[in-house]
Amino acid sequence: MNKNKKTIAAITAVAHYVPEKILSNLELEKMVDTTDEWIKTRTGISERRILEKGASSDMAAKAIDQLLKNRGIGPEEIEIIITATVTPDMLFPPTSTIIQRKVGAKNAWGFDIEAACSGFLYSLIVGAQFIETGNYKKVIVVGSDKMSSITDYTDRNSCILFGDAAAAVLLEPSNDENIGILDHIFYSDGTGEEALHMKGGGSLNPPTHETVDKKWHYIYQDGKAVFKVAVMGMADVSEEILKRNNLTGNDIDYFVPHQANLRIIDAAANRMGIDHSKVMINIDKYGNTTAATIPLCLSEWWLAGKLKRGNTVVLASFGAGYTWGSILLKWAID
Ligand code: COA
Repeated sequence: MNKNKKTIAAITAVAHYVPEKILSNLELEKMVDTTDEWIKTRTGISERRILEKGASSDMAAKAIDQLLKNRGIGPEEIEIIITATVTPDMLFPPTSTIIQRKVGAKNAWGFDIEAACSGFLYSLIVGAQFIETGNYKKVIVVGSDKMSSITDYTDRNSCILFGDAAAAVLLEPSNDENIGILDHIFYSDGTGEEALHMKGGGSLNPPTHETVDKKWHYIYQDGKAVFKVAVMGMADVSEEILKRNNLTGNDIDYFVPHQANLRIIDAAANRMGIDHSKVMINIDKYGNTTAATIPLCLSEWWLAGKLKRGNTVVLASFGAGYTWGSILLKWAID
């Protein structure tokens, strides 16, 4: 645990936004050859949200507006905005600067981080390090993904999995050295590119009629291959962070896994010896919202009064890259 550091970063506010439109399994049954039963048993998902108008920045701005209300501060007090997303409004400018304009954070600078489903965790640690230097006092980290914009709704393998959402946290210096972000372990493995990617639109395959015809602007996933490594990766890294901090599953109040598949979540929780009641799960309502899943869980559990100051929490993710990791923190908000 960061014993030698003078300043510890803590999450001092949390908020989320989900679009109103619900896409249920029953509706998907009418769109592709699938069943509610198959989707629920293979993934744990019942429904997901779809943003009908607007972009990732619109969802992020709504989450941040609420975040500022929750903390009782104005947008001009924000110093940095870091956005985790795989669905930026545009390749450039950074979605963070669009969000900055939309929320009126005129004194903030910002940039985006793209690390797929691990984007929020990576961004949280990048943001925390600005706080730990002592040079910054208010950093927003937001995960926002409009996954429906890169989902092929004729592909039953992938269209059942994803949804749209945004969630944000505020990082500030902790007023207690035992409370806040205490440790993290991150990994990447570039051999994962083949199994999970979106081929088109970047510098390798700029958009052409051909890339559109080949559906290269949609998510491609070899689900089975990703499933195996995701179970192992998320379970291993979560176990590793417990061991490194001399903790067991019994010491943890909440395990907050990336919500990609209920079976992956269950396998990781079992390996950590964590009781099901301590695992945050909302994949049934939202599906996989990529960079938003983890802060969306934190926000819902905090709003419900279940997540309390002093709670010991492990966050864990696995995603494209491959990228994966875990964070240990003590929750700071009453
Ligand atoms: N409805 C009905 N049948 C479907 C289906 C659907 N929506 N999608 C796939 N199937 C079929 C397949 O075509 C296959 O049929 P076949 O055996 O005749 O070929 C069968 O169901 C089994 O497919 P499979 O891919 O083995 O299913 P699975 O149990 O692995 O589940 C995923 C698929 C995608 C849900 C699962 O692999 C998964 O969650 N992968 C990891 C996702 C992840 O963690 N991503 C990382 C972060 S984004």
